[in-house]
Amino acid sequence: MSALRTLDDLLAEGVSGRRVLVRADLNVPLDKQSGAITDDGRIRAVLPTLGALVEAGAKVVVCSHLGRPKGAPDPQFSLSPVAGRLGELLGAPVRFATDTVGDSARSTVADLADGQVALLENLRFNAGETSKDEAERGAFADQLAAFGDAYVDDAFGAVHRKHASVYDVPARLPHVAGRLVLREVEVLSKLTSEPERPYVVVLGGSKVSDKLAVIEALLPTVDRLLIGGGMCFTFLKAQGLEVGTSLLEKDMVETCRNLLERADGKIMLPVDVVVADAFAPDAAHDTVRVDGIPSHRLGLDVGPETVAGFAAALSQAKTIFWNGPMGVFEMAAFAAGTRGIAEAITKADAFSVVGGGDSAAAVRALGLDESSFGHISTGGGASLEYLEGKTLPGIAALEN
Ligand code: 3PG
Ligand code: MG
Repeated sequence: MSALRTLDDLLAEGVSGRRVLVRADLNVPLDKQSGAITDDGRIRAVLPTLGALVEAGAKVVVCSHLGRPKGAPDPQFSLSPVAGRLGELLGAPVRFATDTVGDSARSTVADLADGQVALLENLRFNAGETSKDEAERGAFADQLAAFGDAYVDDAFGAVHRKHASVYDVPARLPHVAGRLVLREVEVLSKLTSEPERPYVVVLGGSKVSDKLAVIEALLPTVDRLLIGGGMCFTFLKAQGLEVGTSLLEKDMVETCRNLLERADGKIMLPVDVVVADAFAPDAAHDTVRVDGIPSHRLGLDVGPETVAGFAAALSQAKTIFWNGPMGVFEMAAFAAGTRGIAEAITKADAFSVVGGGDSAAAVRALGLDESSFGHISTGGGASLEYLEGKTLPGIAALEN
């Protein structure tokens, strides 16, 4: 990490009048009906970096992906609404290029005045961005790199992707880590080096298979691992319980049984769950013990006794990492588990980190005070892969 050059190093060289290409992660959730931005947390998170560059008189060229378009323009994934919101937050209009490396991008960048900001259209409208073919990625990276005299990576949420804008551009330009990337790496490295104990991790979300690597990596390090969310049902099944029509990864049951055997009692599972007749906001529902899940119903949240037990473990903790909701928090009837755990984390006298995507959005959607958490990561997959100890292509590229 000491090998990382930072934004301050770049600012010290002077950036006035220079074009600085900033890779941001502006992949924000959009309302399916209206297309409106439902959570602008990731836009706010890059303001410190962008503000510093504007202040220093740089010509700031921002690029990002949004969603997963398939290498060609797709209007539903346009960054245009993000340009508007970014301009509001910066307090100055952001020029929007309607393509990523075409005529619009070229003229937008050429016309930038010192201290102005431009946003290029979605990187993933170009097949070269995510290509597995080095040459194809490299050709796209050449086009992007032509827009900058220096490169800043502030896209923490995408550092685990070996993509042109993340991995290949820094090989072509002087490069530094932005404020957000630096802060994220500093915080997460605290969790992997010497976390103050007890170190308690809460994992939720729907799939065990997504979290398997991180569970394996964390088991030797943590004091307690609390498991809720859709993935708890595969663990409950592994304990010999019936889970009705709840989410179940049948091919993971054996793996979960094995993890439980090796966990030395560190893993805590729900003791009660909220079961419903259907996956719907108005479905009839009840709280039952985990050994009494009816065969025709599905679990959509953890129950109050589980929340109390998890909260008791969290109240002892000195370090907490939380990734993944405890239930279907988007539906009011199944939000109590996630809310209860989030509140328990804020009450604990601990250094707490909320890992990424859904759990960060849950914190904001439930109206919880963001400042009562130690750190809310902008990276879901990225923070998990960091904790797994994997080499992150975007960080490795900055270190070179
Ligand atoms: C995310 O939302 O996790 C990041 O923006 C990365 O997006 P991706 O998973 O589509 O690469
Ligand atoms: Mg992701």
